[in-house]
Amino acid sequence: MFGFDEVIDRSNTNALSVEGYGEYLFGKKSCGQQCIDDGLIRMWIADMDFATPHFVLDAIKERLDRKILGYSMIFDQDYHEAFNSWLKKRCDWQVEPEYLQPSPGIVPALHDLVSLLTKEGDKILILTPSYGPFQKAVQESNRRLVCSDLIETDGNYTINYGQIEKIIEDQRVTMFIFCHPHNPTGRLWSEEELVELGKMLASKDIWIISDEIHCDLLRSGKTHLPFSKVLPGYSRIITCMSPSKTFNMAGMMLANIIIPDPKARALWQKKNGGLVNPLAIAGVKAAYSQGEDYLASLKSYLDGNFELLDAYLKANLPQVGFTIPEATYLAWLDLSFYLDGTKGDIGLELANQAGILVESGRMFVQNGDNHIRLNLAVPREVLAAGLQRLGSYFNKIAK
Ligand SMILES: Cc1ncc(COP(=O)(O)O)c(C=O)c1O
Repeated sequence: MFGFDEVIDRSNTNALSVEGYGEYLFGKKSCGQQCIDDGLIRMWIADMDFATPHFVLDAIKERLDRKILGYSMIFDQDYHEAFNSWLKKRCDWQVEPEYLQPSPGIVPALHDLVSLLTKEGDKILILTPSYGPFQKAVQESNRRLVCSDLIETDGNYTINYGQIEKIIEDQRVTMFIFCHPHNPTGRLWSEEELVELGKMLASKDIWIISDEIHCDLLRSGKTHLPFSKVLPGYSRIITCMSPSKTFNMAGMMLANIIIPDPKARALWQKKNGGLVNPLAIAGVKAAYSQGEDYLASLKSYLDGNFELLDAYLKANLPQVGFTIPEATYLAWLDLSFYLDGTKGDIGLELANQAGILVESGRMFVQNGDNHIRLNLAVPREVLAAGLQRLGSYFNKIAK
């Protein structure tokens, strides 16, 4: 019904996934002479190769029919209601309408929040491996990055509480940027984990920025618990959510930032005037009010893709470390058996030698060596072809 098997031509649509990989992944316009440019299989950046659902596109078309695309802000109460009713169903959570602030994206919001709520030289903690832009948001604002490596045991990642306790005791950290569910490992943090971490951070009045952009994209049967829910009454927590991953509409550039603290909100509003793309308002409202069936189908398709990957690896590359993640459409593969650090950039190597674009572990700040991240939000035939390429490459180098 939602056409996840359709292979859609994204050429000449200004898609970063198709035209921007050279710069983004390899710091240059193309990935080199030998790169198998034609027919590269793209499993890198976190957007999907599936169509944005028809009810979102229809709402945007309807808005276009109103003919004027002038300056717009979210005045429509239905927008807040659609968001809240989505949250209620997904995670039994509600936010006060005034807490909800629009942003052109979570990454721009992170940059703003770092500069509004901390001072130059302040220390900001993240968990590693980490989504790379967390590091940028800290360092580009002249704040100091402090990392706590997640502990990996047989493919399962957990938080090093002892280390975090020591870091926040000794180093006067003023902000913690958190990813829940976690990119790249796909961990969906449990209530116990959130409570333990939350207690520690709240005892030191540390600002918590909880990036929950992947919170809808769980394996079927799982439920997301917003970090804020385990810290009732703690106002130094800001939750970042967005329809961009769930409905494949990152290009519409509208994320929802939930800021309960009135002073922080005033600072935010002074910096961000609140102007929003009118097409995005229409599309996001439709996504949150009509997206139930679509999300159930999407999750089921992604579950199938993860099962395919798991079965392929077990049959063809049994030395790859992999566990189906609880969340996200991202697979985090441990290739330590195949890589000894001498291969240089495995991402570039796979582009050049195997014709597949992935993100190498080194893009995730630290604690990601010998890993790659694969985006599984692709039609199944594309996934199958990508796996063949990975299989023949790694089986060749293992000989
Ligand atoms: C954890 C995380 N945060 C933020 C983003 C990007 O957010 P936005 O496009 O809203 O800036 C991504 C995209 O991959 C992500 O994985």
